[in-house]
Amino acid sequence: MRKRIVVFASGSGTNFEEIARKSKENYIDGEVSLLISDRADAPVIKRAEKFGIPSIVISWQDKRTAEEKADTILKKINPDVIALAGFMRILSPEFVSKWKFKILNIHPSILPAFQGTTKAIERAKKYGVRVTGCTVHFVDESVDGGPIIAQGIVLVSPNDSEEKIRQKIQKLEHVMYPWVIKKFLEGKIKISEDRRNVVVLDADYNEEEKIFITNPKIE
Ligand code: GAR
Repeated sequence: MRKRIVVFASGSGTNFEEIARKSKENYIDGEVSLLISDRADAPVIKRAEKFGIPSIVISWQDKRTAEEKADTILKKINPDVIALAGFMRILSPEFVSKWKFKILNIHPSILPAFQGTTKAIERAKKYGVRVTGCTVHFVDESVDGGPIIAQGIVLVSPNDSEEKIRQKIQKLEHVMYPWVIKKFLEGKIKISEDRRNVVVLDADYNEEEKIFITNPKIE
């Protein structure tokens, strides 16, 4: 049976689309079983329809109730991985602890810089960084502080608009997130005993070689 992926998303859903497409194409050995969104008007829902992937909208007005609903749904599906892809809510430590080391997140900065739910790219631009990028990490009880799986960098020219930086980062995200999910479902992402350092086994860097900063192969 194919591995099951559940995606949580709040917005446009370009990352969702790449994950869905790459699972349909069998690059990722798993299928997106469900999209969970906290916004009924999120464009990501239309993207799910396009791929024939079911979606559920859960109002996040009351976080506790929302998380209970999400937990019930997840228990039925028993996903192999839960991918947060532009999901603009902070999950409670109680929820995270139930699904620990199964929840991944993508964040548009080189963590731990510019942590937090919103405006990471705007804040990086205002700060005047010359290098930024994106991070895929395990979600733990902290905000954007879980063990780092992969990071990619983009260079920032002083003339780059915020939109330009976003485009550069998203181009990278669309390669990096499916790659991490693929490796995770293949059982090739191992967390060390210190619960902090992550190793990706048999990392086939190929075209990503120049952009991924990740752990070296281990023998
Ligand atoms: C992505 O760039 C992701 O890194 C970011 O939201 C965007 C969603 O884009 N996530 C966060 O800022 C989380 N704090 P998408 O809806 O087109 O995939």
